[in-house]
Amino acid sequence: MFRPPNPGAVHKVGDIAALREIVRSWRAAGERVGLVPTMGNLHAGHLGLVRRAKALAPRVVVSIFVNPTQFDRRDDLAAYPRTLEHDTDLLMEADVDLLFAPNESEIYPSGTENAAFVDVPSLSGILCGASRPGHFRGVATVVSKLFNMVQPDLAVFGEKDCQQLAVIRRLVHGLDFPVQVFGVPTFREGDGLAMSSRNRYLTPQERSRAPALYGMLKRISEALREGERDYAALEGDGIHELRESGFDPDYVSIRRQGDLRQPSTDDKELVVLAAARLGAARLIDNVIVGVERSFPV
Ligand code: PAF
Repeated sequence: MFRPPNPGAVHKVGDIAALREIVRSWRAAGERVGLVPTMGNLHAGHLGLVRRAKALAPRVVVSIFVNPTQFDRRDDLAAYPRTLEHDTDLLMEADVDLLFAPNESEIYPSGTENAAFVDVPSLSGILCGASRPGHFRGVATVVSKLFNMVQPDLAVFGEKDCQQLAVIRRLVHGLDFPVQVFGVPTFREGDGLAMSSRNRYLTPQERSRAPALYGMLKRISEALREGERDYAALEGDGIHELRESGFDPDYVSIRRQGDLRQPSTDDKELVVLAAARLGAARLIDNVIVGVERSFPV
């Protein structure tokens, strides 16, 4: 059976062959394997995903790969924080079995321009997909590739990226990946701001204003729980509130959970989503209304 060469250190591999050999040895011992895909720059939210994965499977692989095909802007890709050494230390403390940290040529051996892509068109062009063309195609592609490389029994994702989770659920369902997908509720700072690698782009002044995004979502969700069904008015109020707090809103939208379609007034399982720029950071967040549902996919 696989034993890390240096016990006490997280074992790190960058190539698919080594990854597969290790995962194969776990499988041969009858152990289930969980995957937590990340782009690194890990924070307490990621470590929460790792904890969930560890509760679900005896072996946990974390991947760190800043995926170029999901960035619609080159400057955004270039600026994305890369903190592999610090991430590796955090994963060691979190007692992760294996860190898969490939370079770009391992994931896209023929270059991104010649890559094969996976798309979930019904969910990829709306909300964040409308302002970030190609983003969800990039996510669906890299997640499919990671599933094929690691072949996990289960994978864990954050619910903060609500649309991403919906895309991945539909991808798994539509392409018959034998992977169970688990969503984990958003981890928040003490003042309510959703944890995100992008929070580090905020200046101290912006950081103090940032929780207004979650405050607005909570107010809309409370109105929905009380029976308000004028969705357009609620969304309009949300946009106004964000502008007043210094945000440049992309959207505030009330959708059905699961398929993210426009709800009718009878729908009860809803999600309120928002994306807005605050200085250099584009922040997203969402609040669930009603019983949480991951389906229909
Ligand atoms: O959520 C992320 O960090 C990324 O979109 C993911 C799922 C790791 C794919 O690159």
